Amino acid sequence: MATIPSFPPIHFDFGAIQELPGELAKRGVDHPLIITDQGLVEHGVYQKLRDALPADMAVAVYDNIPENPTIAGIEQALDVYKANNCDGIIGLGGGSVLDSGKALRVAATHNMSVIEILNNLGKITADVAPYITIPTTAGTGAEITFGGGIHPETNAPALTIRSIHVQPDLAICDPEFTMTLPPRLTAATGMDALTHCVEGFVSNMSNPPCEAIALDGTRRVVDFIERAVADGSDREARAEMSMAALQGGMAIYMGLGPIHALSMAFGDSPLHHGTLVTVAMPAVMRFYNDKLNGNGLERYAEAMKLKADKESGNRIADAVAEMNTKLGLPSTVREMGYEKTDIDRMVKECCDSGFNHPAPIVPSQDEYEKLVTEVLG
Ligand SMILES: [Fe+2]
Repeated sequence: MATIPSFPPIHFDFGAIQELPGELAKRGVDHPLIITDQGLVEHGVYQKLRDALPADMAVAVYDNIPENPTIAGIEQALDVYKANNCDGIIGLGGGSVLDSGKALRVAATHNMSVIEILNNLGKITADVAPYITIPTTAGTGAEITFGGGIHPETNAPALTIRSIHVQPDLAICDPEFTMTLPPRLTAATGMDALTHCVEGFVSNMSNPPCEAIALDGTRRVVDFIERAVADGSDREARAEMSMAALQGGMAIYMGLGPIHALSMAFGDSPLHHGTLVTVAMPAVMRFYNDKLNGNGLERYAEAMKLKADKESGNRIADAVAEMNTKLGLPSTVREMGYEKTDIDRMVKECCDSGFNHPAPIVPSQDEYEKLVTEVLG
């Protein structure tokens, strides 16, 4: 049986930010808290958002969300929310900010600390603060998904937040807000979208409309990522990558898999998520190569403009490795500066990961050990 969940409403285009004041009013939000990070303030992206709101609106700001989302960042944002009697949240940023907002909207209305929320996801009710997302990267899909990862401490593995009640109320995808994203992050977040498309597409959830979306998102990444990385002012490439990111987010509704499980194995260091998953993708595609024939890899290879045959998994792996090199991304986790050596712990993280549930084939412990070793480098 196909299960087709619904996405939040989305405004998508250059200039979509103009919809924000009306959307806040519709939700009765008079005193929003904007959560963001310092880079976005420094690069003027926050100001662009502020300019779209009425000058006399009482707006509070918390601009210190870290590069990977932490409980401390959410707790500090909550203090600002409460001190200013805020009545809604606007998340302006990449996956870290947008996922932080998911926990924050619960913490704002539930009489529980953030760690209690993360340890008691079943206690999250629909009584959450209004939450609008404005992505400034193109790739995480966090603007529309109902899950995310929050690190208890910077160097501790992420805990999952997952509940339909944390799904954002609305996403405003205005590619203008991605124009200042530097090349390396454009590359890494864009490749994250590709991993969402492939893991969603081959997952064991049947959802033909989303499968078509995943293939279309794949084509956009393949066609436009190099342009967006080479020239950040290429408006067409930016818009196409924003759409690919959104489509990757829709693909996540079918679940993820071993690529994302592997990224958790190295989650005890603050490494960039998008870079981790694209480094992990070739190994997982090779693992699938002789196991998933007739089960989607050929169609996926076609979407990547590759020959579709029994070697599709290997072809996809080679193509992604080549894309990573061309985009200046690393090919192993060691190249990212990861120095830990406790392979058994990494393998256990992979085996225990909830990302395995939707996987078409779950690697065994031995297979995960091989995957971890290969991805680690
Ligand atoms: Fe991801």
